Amino acid sequence: MESQPYAGQVALVTGAASGIGRAVALRLAREGAAVALLDVDAAGAAETERLVRALETPVRTVAVTVDVSEAAQVRAAVERAVAALGTPAILVNCAGISRGGPVANLDDDDWERVQAVNLRGTFLCCKAVTPLMTAAGYGRVVNISSGTGVRVGPGSGAYAASKAGVIALTKALAGELATAGVTANVVAPGITDTAMTRGAFGTRAAIEESARTGRIANPMGVVLEPEDIAAAVAFFALPESGRITGQTLHVNAGAYMP
Ligand code: NAI
Repeated sequence: MESQPYAGQVALVTGAASGIGRAVALRLAREGAAVALLDVDAAGAAETERLVRALETPVRTVAVTVDVSEAAQVRAAVERAVAALGTPAILVNCAGISRGGPVANLDDDDWERVQAVNLRGTFLCCKAVTPLMTAAGYGRVVNISSGTGVRVGPGSGAYAASKAGVIALTKALAGELATAGVTANVVAPGITDTAMTRGAFGTRAAIEESARTGRIANPMGVVLEPEDIAAAVAFFALPESGRITGQTLHVNAGAYMP
């Protein structure tokens, strides 16, 4: 059996139907956490649930369908997760979308939707879950931003603004929760092979080419895997990471060094 640092803990993971969120849920579950899988994609979340149940040491799990941009849905989803599994010790906000284009051409609705899912969704989940953590005197919040939140290129205005917002929101939260036993940190991935990047680049080969030679190329010349990002999330979620808060950890194979 692998080490079980999260045994007895409940983790609530948004965006758990795919990519990074799924890898995070599986990583925490493998290491003992009961996992609530929140996503708007019910079929994808059910598949993650199946994968969790198939682990060598299965843990309790529940899949909850929710649009994280909707306050009432988020409150109901958190209630369902808590009723099924108990109070979350870990909250990981992975749900996100990417829509791009130069500001002058950016569709207003695309701007609104990106902020609604990436930034308001993260806010609403933090708002719903952190009071439970404060009451319990323990919590680990990990929000997923992006390298694009700090190293901004043309055409990424909506996405970059939402991801910079996630970092600022997390810093505010870290200060507010500092004496409550609750930390809040950010993981900022570089280019990672998921449905999102497949959608943007088309093929694995195109993603690899971008990692080697594109604007966001990295010196290792590699594409990150969702498990690389999950490792950083797992670190912030550890009980012994309790003195690390308000930080952003870039997982990008050296593409950007703050
Ligand atoms: P993905 O597309 O594989 O997963 C995103 C998940 O979020 C999906 O399961 C989707 O159904 C869910 N989701 C979307 N809108 C939602 C909503 N309104 N309510 C609930 N769930 C919703 O993409 P990936 O790459 O795993 O993305 C995870 C996070 O990582 C996102 O926040 C993304 O912005 C961030 N990220 C990804 C990078 C990459 O290269 N893949 C790089 C930097 C950041």
